Amino acid sequence: MEYRELAKIAIKGLALSYAPYSDFNVSAALLTKDGRVYHGVNIENASFTPTVCAERTAFFKAVSEGVRGFEAICIVGCHHEQLMTEDYKKGILNEWAPPCGVCRQVMREFCDPTEFKIILARSEDDFRIFRLEELLPESFGPENL
Ligand code: THU
Repeated sequence: MEYRELAKIAIKGLALSYAPYSDFNVSAALLTKDGRVYHGVNIENASFTPTVCAERTAFFKAVSEGVRGFEAICIVGCHHEQLMTEDYKKGILNEWAPPCGVCRQVMREFCDPTEFKIILARSEDDFRIFRLEELLPESFGPENL
């Protein structure tokens, strides 16, 4: 699958984010090695700490279905008011949404840091690609135990 297609899924899925407290919507489209896509959004909670990020929602959906091989994840985010704009309807966002440290560590559990790609997108045509090891250098993972 092309990364622009992955970005399209992530951008469209932003509308499903449940973020009434921060008003910051995040959506992630996780591409498996065999070409399937698992989508996740951030899901907040009135008690705050149970909140889960979009990336972990996507990973946990996939892992709980037995998937272990991942190629890339595309992450998008925006403030809630952006979802009402003409730009959003055209698939254009005005900010990047890099993954938090906890989500980077969850990726590290299931992905080869030298191979797995993290794609930050603002539209299907505007994205930046990183390898996990660039965003989580000198990391601690399963091989350390
Ligand atoms: N958030 C994510 O979904 N992914 C990240 O990697 C960073 C933060 C969410 C959590 C919370 O619902 C909102 O963004 C503001 O922190």
